[in-house]
Amino acid sequence: MPFSSLPRGTTTVVVISIVILVVWMIWGSLKYPEALWAPGNLSRYHTDVNSCSQCHEPFQGVTVNKCASCHNEKQFAERSKPAVSEFHRKTLREGKTCVGCHTEHRGALAQITVGAMENPHGEFVFRATGTRSCTACHDFSTGFESRIRLLDNVIVSRLMDEGEGAHRPGKMMHCLKCHLGRRLEIDDD
Ligand code: HEC
Ligand code: HEC
Ligand code: HEC
Ligand code: HEC
Ligand code: HEC
Repeated sequence: MPFSSLPRGTTTVVVISIVILVVWMIWGSLKYPEALWAPGNLSRYHTDVNSCSQCHEPFQGVTVNKCASCHNEKQFAERSKPAVSEFHRKTLREGKTCVGCHTEHRGALAQITVGAMENPHGEFVFRATGTRSCTACHDFSTGFESRIRLLDNVIVSRLMDEGEGAHRPGKMMHCLKCHLGRRLEIDDD
C-alpha cells in the first residue's frame, strides 16, 4: 500500500489537490491558451487569428500547410508584387518551411519577416527616394537568401544620377555612410 504510512486525510487532500490542478490546467488551456502556453503576443497582422491550431499542428508545431491555408498561391498572385508572389509560389510548391524567414509571438508591433535579408540602407532609402518596398529597386525572384539583383528601372537610374558622381555601382550600398545623420545634403569639407 503506497499511501499506507500517511494518514487517510492527507491522501484525500493530495488527490483532490491534483484533480483540481489538472482541471484548472485544462480549463485554462481551453479558455486562455495564449496566457498559459504561448511564448508571447501575436503580431498585429495576426491578432484576428483566433485559434492556435490555425498555425500549429498538434505535436508538430508550425507547418507550411497551416500557413498556406490563408496564404496560398492565389492570394500571393492577387495581392503581392510579382517577385514576391513568384518567390512564394516556389516556396509553397517545395513545401519549404515558412519559419526560416517569418516569426511570431514577438508582440503586436514586431516585424515578422526576419533573417532573410538585411536592409543595408536603413529606412533612409525609402524616405530619400519616395519608394515603399525593397522590390521597387531589387529583384528577389531568385530567392531572398542569394545575392539580390538591382533592377534596371527609372527609380534606380534616377538614384544613380543623383549622387553627382558619388553614386557609383559597388559604392552605394550603405547610404548612411555618406548621408550622415540621415540627411540628403552632403557636407563637403
Ligand atoms: C499566426 C500564426 C500563429 C498563431 C495563431 C499562433 N502561433 Fe505559436 N508560433 C507561430 C510561429 C510562426 C512560431 C515560430 C516562431 C519562431 O520560430 O520564431 C510559433 C511558436 C510557438 C511556440 C514555440 C515553440 C514552437 O513550436 O516553435 C509556442 C509554445 C507557441 N507558438 C504556442 C502558441 C499558442 C499557445 C497559440 C495560441 C494561443 C499560438 N502559438 C498561436 C505562429 C502562430
Ligand atoms: C487564419 C488566416 C492566417 C493564417 C493561418 C496565417 N496568416 Fe499570415 N496573415 C493573415 C492576415 C489576415 C494578414 C494581414 C495582412 C493581409 O491582409 O494579408 C497576414 C499577414 C502575414 C504576413 C505579412 C506581414 C507584413 O509584414 O506585411 C506574413 C509574413 C504572414 N502573414 C506570414 C504567416 C505565416 C508564416 C503563417 C504561418 C505560421 C501565417 N501567416 C498564418 C492571415 C493568416
Ligand atoms: C527565404 C525567406 C522566406 C521564406 C522561406 C518565406 N518567406 Fe514570406 N516573405 C519573405 C520576404 C523577404 C517578404 C517581404 C517581401 C517584401 O516586403 O518585399 C515576405 C513576405 C510574405 C508575405 C507578405 C506578402 C506581401 O505581399 O508582402 C506573406 C503573407 C508571406 N511572406 C508568407 C509566407 C509563407 C506562408 C511562407 C511559407 C510557405 C513564407 N512566407 C516563406 C521571405 C520569405
Ligand atoms: C531606391 C532604390 C532601393 C531600394 C528601395 C532598396 N535598395 Fe537595396 N540597393 C540599392 C542600390 C542602389 C544598391 C547599391 C548597388 C551598388 O552599390 O552597386 C543596393 C544594394 C543592396 C544590397 C547589396 C547587394 C549586393 O549586391 O551585395 C542589399 C543586400 C540590399 N540593397 C538590400 C535591400 C533591402 C533589403 C531593401 C528593402 C528594405 C532595399 N535594398 C531597398 C537600391 C535600393
Ligand atoms: C559614396 C557616398 C554616397 C553614398 C553611399 C550614397 N550617396 Fe546619395 N548622395 C551622395 C552625394 C555626394 C550626393 C549629391 C550631393 C548633394 O546633393 O548634397 C547625393 C545625393 C543623393 C540624393 C539627391 C539629394 C537631392 O537633394 O538632390 C538622393 C535622393 C540620394 N543621394 C539617396 C541616396 C541613397 C538612397 C543611397 C543608398 C542607396 C545613397 N544616396 C548613397 C553621396 C552618397
